[in-house]
Amino acid sequence: CGIVGYIGSRDAKPILINGLKKLEYRGYDSAGIAIYEDGEIQVRKTVGRLTNLEELIEKNPVKGTLAIGHTRWATHGSPSDVNSHPHVDGKSEFVVVHNGIIENFLEIKEELIEKGATFVSETDTEVIAHLLSHLYDGDLVTTVQKAVAKMKGAYALGIIYKNEPEKMIAVRLASPLIIGIGEKENYIASDIPALIEHTRDIYILNDGEMAVITADNVQLMTTDGKLIERDVFHVEWDVETAEKDGFDHFMLKEIYEQPRAYRETISNRINHQLNTVDLSQEINLTEDYIKSIDKIHIVACGTAYHAGLVGKYVIEQLTRIPVEVDVASEYRYRNPIITPNTLVMVISQSGETADTLAALRESQRNGAKVLAITNVNGSSVSREADEVLLTHAGPEIAVASTKAYTSQLVAIYLFGLYLSQVRETHEDAAIAKYIQAIKELPAQAEKLLEFAPIIKQFAERFAKHEDLFFIGRSLDFAVSLEGSLKLKEISYIHSEAYPAGELKHGTLALITDGIPVIALATQEDIYEKMVSNIIEVKARNAYVLGIALEGDTELAKSVDEVITIPKTLPLLTPALSVIPLQLLAYYAALARGNDVDKPRNLAKSVTVE
Ligand code: G6P
Repeated sequence: CGIVGYIGSRDAKPILINGLKKLEYRGYDSAGIAIYEDGEIQVRKTVGRLTNLEELIEKNPVKGTLAIGHTRWATHGSPSDVNSHPHVDGKSEFVVVHNGIIENFLEIKEELIEKGATFVSETDTEVIAHLLSHLYDGDLVTTVQKAVAKMKGAYALGIIYKNEPEKMIAVRLASPLIIGIGEKENYIASDIPALIEHTRDIYILNDGEMAVITADNVQLMTTDGKLIERDVFHVEWDVETAEKDGFDHFMLKEIYEQPRAYRETISNRINHQLNTVDLSQEINLTEDYIKSIDKIHIVACGTAYHAGLVGKYVIEQLTRIPVEVDVASEYRYRNPIITPNTLVMVISQSGETADTLAALRESQRNGAKVLAITNVNGSSVSREADEVLLTHAGPEIAVASTKAYTSQLVAIYLFGLYLSQVRETHEDAAIAKYIQAIKELPAQAEKLLEFAPIIKQFAERFAKHEDLFFIGRSLDFAVSLEGSLKLKEISYIHSEAYPAGELKHGTLALITDGIPVIALATQEDIYEKMVSNIIEVKARNAYVLGIALEGDTELAKSVDEVITIPKTLPLLTPALSVIPLQLLAYYAALARGNDVDKPRNLAKSVTVE
């Protein structure tokens, strides 16, 4: 989500709207502003894009010099007018915009309901407004400190209060928030692009810090009230670089966001005491139903289809339920065999892909239950599916999907384990081992990203070629397909992914002197076979880059170069082995001078058949 706030002497409305536009990449399913006007705080908010908010304000104008605003990417509660921010207490005195999650909001909400509060939305944010009103002690600053002491989670807040309109409060606990310093006016924002047209002088709030902001002063302090002195940070970036958080492209930024996307997709879905997966809050499939599933169809397009291919291996291994995977444009016309015991899983980042949506409808018409894995809460797929498991990758801007794919893998692992628990196909200890390994993925992905400079060198060498091959077996083959798609999409190098054992039945004819081959060898059970296949291509003088597990000293003897990935359980390797392939595609596209974020002929969301 994105936050913007203003206090000064100019009309706050255009400043907020323009600032929010610059933050749309952080979320865009609803938007709103609260403005202090003639002794009252006026709120305008609506579901949909910012243009909807602009129309609403045009119909029902407001004007003032103190305001906070928000664009939302729904996590708790579906996108709707009432769930949009800002949120107010019952009397519209305390107004809050919020980014992040208050983990104990239900507890606080129940306490406040007992004391007579009534709530209009499903959000955790509304609870904050009521809590402030409940705790108010005559001073907004100490009241905010008392409220923060009660709230657990990771969040950033912007707060204004009707009876103290000379100030605005910013609080940060693990969600980004900055303060922009102007001439007799000051700002808050989630990110630099929102402010750069007004000021380049900012304070960056750290975790556990807050700021009391008036038109001509900013006082920083810890959330328990200790004053802080901090040097002003002067932003040198241009607007475009700022939007990309300093990265050259959205794609690279999104590749680097994967550890965070993992953490957020895992969070609140694991019972750390029992070492089990708990999805019962989100998906409502009865034990009887889960036990009655006799086959699963996974349906998706593009990168999401490739996540589905990994899903087949994962779910079959974890549950022994047979899984078929189809691209949606085929599935919808092939008259698939669907019975009431078929669970159809659709996977879609955007939740708006026309073929995927059509396959979902077709499956429901044929009597199947549909579970959707999607990144966009409130999308068509999420609204129409029977059950939804959200990925929490955050908005993905680059056309070539990266963090959405890896978050889909995590969602699949969690769902597979959940099915396995209910169907009792694995011992508790085996499930616990998977959960432990899943928890390690974010830190392992972080470690892997440190190899980027080495991968860049490989990519620059490959970039001169017009043809390239990926080979692998089982899960490594599924990942090869995604690596190959990434490379094609953005570098325009022709590439093919082949099951390594199948190469000799035709494609080996194309392996000639110096042809680059990327060989994935992370699967222990078929490792020896894979090495034999690598030797086959080496014998034709291919130039081979191997992807191996950390600690593998053997592979280096059969290939020209090796990249290793941190050791994890065999089923989980795709979540790591794809990362070097994403970086290879990125750096190859860069070396060829292509438009990385907007490759030719492709669109992010394909809403036509
Ligand atoms: C488009 C995009 C792909 C994406 C596919 C499916 O073709 O360019 O990157 O994988 O659609 O999109 P979805 O939003 O359904 O995951």
